Amino acid sequence: MPMKIGSLQLKNNLIAAPLAGVSNRAYRVLCKRYGAGLVYVEMLKVESFLHHNRKMMTLKYYRDDERPVGIQFAGNNPQWLAEACKMAQDEGYDVIDFNMGCPVPKIGRCGAGSALMAYPDRAAKCFEAMVQAVKIPVTLKMRAGVNEGCLNFVEMGRMAEGCGMQAVTIHPRTRAQMFTGQADHSRTAELKAALKVPVIASGDIKEPEDGLRVLQQTGCDGLMLGRGVWGRPWLFREIDETVRYGRVITPSPGPLERLSVLREHFEMLVETFDVATSCQVVRRYATWYVRDIPGSPQFRARLTRVNTREVFHEIVDEITDHFERAIGVPPDEQLGRARPKSEPALQTVG
Ligand SMILES: Cc1cc2nc3c(=O)[nH]c(=O)nc-3n(C[C@H](O)[C@H](O)[C@H](O)COP(=O)(O)O)c2cc1C
Repeated sequence: MPMKIGSLQLKNNLIAAPLAGVSNRAYRVLCKRYGAGLVYVEMLKVESFLHHNRKMMTLKYYRDDERPVGIQFAGNNPQWLAEACKMAQDEGYDVIDFNMGCPVPKIGRCGAGSALMAYPDRAAKCFEAMVQAVKIPVTLKMRAGVNEGCLNFVEMGRMAEGCGMQAVTIHPRTRAQMFTGQADHSRTAELKAALKVPVIASGDIKEPEDGLRVLQQTGCDGLMLGRGVWGRPWLFREIDETVRYGRVITPSPGPLERLSVLREHFEMLVETFDVATSCQVVRRYATWYVRDIPGSPQFRARLTRVNTREVFHEIVDEITDHFERAIGVPPDEQLGRARPKSEPALQTVG
């Protein structure tokens, strides 16, 4: 289903969540390829964004092929947030989200992220400052509240709408819950009933049926996908098809295609980061891609210790060999290796 956030027209209502440490360019390109209507760079602390250090340049780096692309700020200083929004608009982002959902202490200690839900007056000042600073749409992402005794998501949603924010995403767990328990999407339905701007649901959408159920049960306008997409970017396409046709039409990629997407994911990381950082990042990603591949558990430990480009490709070659032998592919027909053994090893760069 197409969706509009203020003036921004999206091709569908499926959004790749901003994910600290995860939603880098490589991740976003794959989400987009497999059907995400909007992607986000990971959350940036407003002070760090304004400060502009080298790490920040890498984190906020995007290219036009990712559009529409959003940026997300965490902070609680209205003036800094306004300045950051102006800079983000100048840097060409299509939408700016305000993070009022992050529960981690590093952010909470600064009174930002979901901790800000305890301070509605301060939050309202931030909303106003951000909206008034730019012409592009500004949106809010929040939790259900600070804890079960402070479930103020409807109040916050109304405030955001009143200040001119153009959409509200809810991850319907409390700050106190962190990531435990289940996202309670009856709260998403309650928020949807209270607001006129689009409401986007985030939380525990891991299968195509989850997407359909949350859309139908809450009446929400869009879905934001996080952990369900890890190692499975085609979840966007699968939800889209399930909503349109009642079931997944395009078969999910098999093991060999998944391994090939993993290689591509790694090579795109190398384009963004240096090789050492790419290896650190891919240690996290690789196990997601191989988790369902028969025989892969024995390679998992090595994947989590990858330290060079060559070693990465060698392990993926071995998983491929192992899988092809297991399903009985004759050696002269084994196609799964993007880099045949006879080729020279890739040169390490960076
Ligand atoms: C590793 C990790 C990093 C996250 N980083 C962000 C972030 O930068 N900004 C944000 O709004 N939410 C962040 N979240 C929360 C997700 O966007 C999402 O709301 C939450 O994980 C629930 O959705 P899911 O069950 O689909 O993952 C993060 C979650 C995880 C697990």
